[in-house]
Amino acid sequence: MRKKIVAGNWKMHKNAAQTEELLNELIAKIPAETDAQVIVAPTFVNLASAVNQLKSTAIGVSAQNMHQAESGAYTGEISADMLTSVGVKTVILGHSERRAIFHETDALIASKVDTALQHDMTVIFCFGEELKDRQSQNHFNIVENQLKDGLFHLQAKDWEKIVLAYEPVWAIGTGETASPEQAQEMHEFIRETVRKAFGSDVAEDVSILYGGSVKPDNAKEIFSKPDVDGGLIGGAALKAEDFVAIVTAI
Ligand code: PGA
Repeated sequence: MRKKIVAGNWKMHKNAAQTEELLNELIAKIPAETDAQVIVAPTFVNLASAVNQLKSTAIGVSAQNMHQAESGAYTGEISADMLTSVGVKTVILGHSERRAIFHETDALIASKVDTALQHDMTVIFCFGEELKDRQSQNHFNIVENQLKDGLFHLQAKDWEKIVLAYEPVWAIGTGETASPEQAQEMHEFIRETVRKAFGSDVAEDVSILYGGSVKPDNAKEIFSKPDVDGGLIGGAALKAEDFVAIVTAI
């Protein structure tokens, strides 16, 4: 069943004490009766403590990345087994910062997706066009290709573990948001693309989140669109008040 999800991507922010403090605020402030699934993605070193702290709450914990190999000589990397061994069952893959700054290709991201699924993890798969793509009217092509290259080798049943996060790169951390109409237009296109390849059941069940400068004052309008099932929140996830307001907006 399609779920409403609000996920906070904390990126490289918050040390151990700050993580604990923000989580305590979220535990206190997120209304128990919210029908959205709430997920937070602190940094690797704070994942185990976050899982512990959130044990008796409905708030889930996600990693922001992981390596595709099972183990090996990959200095500085973290495996799926390491994540699941501390209770992390979700991972964000393909974030535009991983693609742009760390040169992750569609093929690499596809192999990370495979590894995550082999470990029964849920994948929040990020993709989205750059400003130049939108300006040259190439944004639908780019998005379709990222989807195909990252996920279309999967079987229909694998999609139970996939959450899509459409994040136009020009809207990430820029304060510029896609209009609710632009988000809806792209989310509808994404759902249709999935429908053509995997059928209606998969397309109707997959949650498609919007990400890119979602704030308390624009969340409600974006979330009101029929094909927008929630958000992946960066900057506004770092302040309890803002993140809770976004969770409430859904
Ligand atoms: P932003 O980040 O909300 O700060 O634009 C979103 C993201 O990178 O996932």
